[in-house]
Amino acid sequence: MALKITVIGTGYLGATHAAAMAELGFEVLGLDISEEKVKTLSAGLTPMFEPGLEELLRRHVEGLPGSTGRLRFTTSYPDAAAFGDVHFICVNTPQRHGEHAADMSHVDAAVESLAPHLTRPALVVGKSTVPVGSAARIAARIAELAPAGDKAEVAWNPEFLREGFAVQDTLRPDRIVAGVTGPEAERLLREVYAGPIAEGSPFLTMDLPTAELVKAAANSFLATKISFINAMAEVCEAAGGDVVKLAEAIGHDERIGRKFLRAGIGFGGGCLPKDLRAFMARAGELGVDQALTFLREIDSINMRRRSHMVELTREALGGAVLGRRIAVLGATFKPDSDDVRDSPALNIAGQLHLQGAQVTVYDPKGLDNARQVFPTLGYAGSVTEAVRGADAVLHLTEWREFRELDPAELGRLVGHRRLLDGRNTLDPARWRAAGWTYRALGRPAA
Ligand code: UDX
Repeated sequence: MALKITVIGTGYLGATHAAAMAELGFEVLGLDISEEKVKTLSAGLTPMFEPGLEELLRRHVEGLPGSTGRLRFTTSYPDAAAFGDVHFICVNTPQRHGEHAADMSHVDAAVESLAPHLTRPALVVGKSTVPVGSAARIAARIAELAPAGDKAEVAWNPEFLREGFAVQDTLRPDRIVAGVTGPEAERLLREVYAGPIAEGSPFLTMDLPTAELVKAAANSFLATKISFINAMAEVCEAAGGDVVKLAEAIGHDERIGRKFLRAGIGFGGGCLPKDLRAFMARAGELGVDQALTFLREIDSINMRRRSHMVELTREALGGAVLGRRIAVLGATFKPDSDDVRDSPALNIAGQLHLQGAQVTVYDPKGLDNARQVFPTLGYAGSVTEAVRGADAVLHLTEWREFRELDPAELGRLVGHRRLLDGRNTLDPARWRAAGWTYRALGRPAA
């Protein structure tokens, strides 16, 4: 009989995972403690913007016209425990308030709520990004609480999905990492991922701590790549070099690779910054903080990008931003997402606002979330509205819509044709040809 799957926590990761599991043919029950979320998802809607996810929900959520009915949502732990053979824990692990370490309270609460109802054999699979050592601790706690005893096993299966590509990353992952302690857990995970494995995704088995570390290491490496190229941008700026050309040239070396070498205002979002800090905090607890001191530098290079962009704007405006009208294009931490968590774009807009500039932000998808986080900023419903009369236009999130803008047309709306490109994805020649002063991080001024 086919496995039944529960997904605990239906935020970004969980909602995508639940829908993807239904797409792979499993009966799936998604659990969330928020009734609101359960109601939204049960209607085939998502609380966030993610390309392709609502389509997948509509195809599978029970009760929707023409759906397979394979996917349901609940708030009940006893129902989830009775339903599932495999339980994926997908709750979030945010940065602990005022500290660098990860806040494990949601994971712990999920385990405490589920385990006492595990009366039959089950595999509890952690997907959340956690400090190394958590899986073993959770396994011990489940052994203590679950009536099924050692028939309730724990595995770790980190998730590498990117926002904006969540559905495709889940259905066709680069690799499947399976942290297991025995053959039964491996068998079950292989059964869950039989589809992607058949499509060629490598299945890598390892112990629990290694599986937990893979996620922290992968995110640290990606963050390091971005901060490396941003450090080169700093040097290029001082030396009159062009970091975009430099990145392309080093990226042709296959050992380096071209991806994740886009210099700009740096990384943000709900994962890279907080995972980096949590990893350093955990290394400290393990007594190996020296091994990761370089990550502190990666973090500070990244944060420096934001203040540097503010500095460059001030310089472009003749030394002060007070009372100047600044149009900010982009609020989300990256395009194809409505997520503004730790967004460099919104942070820069906020800093300029606090220095007295009249900031107007436009973003194709992130305005509602941005308004909630930063209600005192000015917002506009379109690029044209945002740039009208602006003394400077800042390009801070590289949405396709911005690449397709007509510089000549926009030039007629602004007060001054002054563009600062924080993402290096606009074509300097086009903008300059239309009479704009174009400045970008890590590139020559003219
Ligand atoms: C990241 C990891 O890619 C993913 O594997 C992990 O599961 C979660 O964290 P995500 O947060 O969705 O995914 O965003 P990602 O596409 O990695 O971008 C992160 C940030 O880095 C964005 O702010 C982006 O603008 C920035 N970035 C990315 C750069 O500044 N330069 C680059 O070259 C690439």
